[in-house]
Amino acid sequence: MLPIIENNFDSLMLFLAESKYDRIFLLADENTKTYCYPLLQGLLPDAIVIEIKAGEKNKQLDTCNYVWQQLSEHHASRHSLLINLGGGMVSDLGGFVAATYKRGIDFVNIPTSLLAMVDASIGGKTGIDFKGIKNMIGVIALPKLVFVHPIFLQTLTPRHILSGYAEMLKHGMIADPSYLSELLQNKVSDMKDWALLIQKSIEIKNSIVEQDPLEKGIRKSLNFGHTIGHALESYFLEDEENAFLHGEAIAWGMVLESMLSMDLLGMKESDYKQLLQFVENNYRPIKLLASEYETLIAFMNHDKKNIDGKIAFVLLKDIAEVQLDVFCTKQQIQKAFSIINTSHH
Ligand SMILES: NC(=O)c1ccc[n+]([C@@H]2O[C@H](COP(=O)([O-])OP(=O)(O)OC[C@H]3O[C@@H](n4cnc5c(N)ncnc54)[C@H](O)[C@@H]3O)[C@@H](O)[C@H]2O)c1
Ligand SMILES: [Zn+2]
Repeated sequence: MLPIIENNFDSLMLFLAESKYDRIFLLADENTKTYCYPLLQGLLPDAIVIEIKAGEKNKQLDTCNYVWQQLSEHHASRHSLLINLGGGMVSDLGGFVAATYKRGIDFVNIPTSLLAMVDASIGGKTGIDFKGIKNMIGVIALPKLVFVHPIFLQTLTPRHILSGYAEMLKHGMIADPSYLSELLQNKVSDMKDWALLIQKSIEIKNSIVEQDPLEKGIRKSLNFGHTIGHALESYFLEDEENAFLHGEAIAWGMVLESMLSMDLLGMKESDYKQLLQFVENNYRPIKLLASEYETLIAFMNHDKKNIDGKIAFVLLKDIAEVQLDVFCTKQQIQKAFSIINTSHH
């Protein structure tokens, strides 16, 4: 099922008119309730709104508890629908709540962040964080419909726009050289018409997921930039002031993993340099001391993708030529980290 992307709400209304749910619930966080729900309110006069607190720290069991309770108090049945209106936090948690309530009710994702439009709302991964570990508890459950309306991006902060943009760059890197060069030439802050670029990213992610829904092979390519990116994200999480948004960490993760790709697989230096330049010009810089490399590598040792305790990377032989399960030595990883410090002088 390919997500629908439209500059109006016609297909959404048609879907709802045809499906005859007994009750419609709409899940939003405090921001998407304020900024996004007003655009839908008139179209969904009978929807029962459930509001949760925003932010990754609320993507956890207490919040699910609250949503299950609200569904139950308002008599949600197996013929009810949950609409997830929000970023990846809302669609991850809402999808999980819907998939488990009465052994599963239908849900629809209406992503409102760029990251959710091109990534989180597609592919059926749902879940919550548990005991400090991201996405520890969850299920694979597909939404009945993913409905993308770029209008919601108007209220998203520039930092969150760039965070989603990193995943779009990733789609270009792993699958489509001409899409990548279009993205690299773009001035993100001037972007007005997002529909076509979003559509391309959705097509890339969707086709990869459809070929390998259970992540046995090619779906792993979506983890490009994420081995190092997740380590950076986790490491800086403790430090509120310097904490990275997911996509910001992934942008630097892709730079460093391109460095490894160049070293180990002969990726072209010009491709690496183009990406480096884009990331330096658009994303907040990282400051790393050599004494911090060990801790970062320790984070990578916990990565779900590792095999036999060795750190497994997804690297590129070339743009759109992915190599899965590449093992790197500590020395090779340290060398990649060291470019961060030299590239800022
Ligand atoms: N399931 C998947 O395949 C998948 C893939 C990637 C990421 N994720 C998950 O997605 C989450 C990150 O997604 P995210 O960046 O969308 O986070 P998010 O949902 O927390 O949204 C980021 C912030 O933007 C606000 N916001 C969202 N839309 C807005 C709008 N239109 N206007 C104003 N404010 C708005 C939110 O309230 C929040 O404060 C993480 O939990 C991550 O694990 C899941
Ligand atoms: Zn990601």
